[in-house]
Amino acid sequence: MKKFLAIAALAAFTLISCGKDKKETTKATETTKEVVKEVKEVVKEVKSATVDLMAPTLDNKGIGPIKSVTINDKIDDALVAKGKEVYKANCTACHKFKKRYIGPALKDITKRRSSEWIMNMILNSTEMLEKDPVAKALIAEYNAPMAQQKLSKEDARAILEFFRTK
Ligand code: HEC
Repeated sequence: MKKFLAIAALAAFTLISCGKDKKETTKATETTKEVVKEVKEVVKEVKSATVDLMAPTLDNKGIGPIKSVTINDKIDDALVAKGKEVYKANCTACHKFKKRYIGPALKDITKRRSSEWIMNMILNSTEMLEKDPVAKALIAEYNAPMAQQKLSKEDARAILEFFRTK
């Protein structure tokens, strides 16, 4: 956005310095003012269309086979170990925890998305990407469909437990 404004300002400066008499200068200034106004309007539109993908959406359970998940306060270490294996085999081609890769960085994902949403995203990504508002915003940003995984509910639950430790 700053780039736009900088370009507009530069255009203004060029027009003004090229203006031979006062009349031309005034005209150039007016044109510049109009350009700046238009740029500002575009910036406003872009901002309002941008969704904050890091904002928590914990009320959204997503669409798919998982309607509710029971989460114990205590982390189940055996389940974490299983989840880590399933994750390594199926997800690392596109995800890292701390950095954006083909898909989003998954650190703190359980603080941003509900357990149900995460499991539905794993088990039912195709439909999620078509219909769920958060998944739709994600694909608009990442431009790559998350592959539909052939995993069981147990696998997805194990990954979720692993994510709780990340
Ligand atoms: C082919 C690449 C690919 C693979 C493999 C993949 N993902 Fe994704 N994932 C993505 C992309 C890309 C997105 C963003 C949405 C989109 O564009 O489809 C995403 C989004 C997500 C999200 C939502 C992130 C957020 O910020 O809300 C979660 C959770 C997720 N993936 C988990 C997984 C898990 C778990 C696996 C393994 C079972 C996996 N993904 C495998 C590409 C992939």
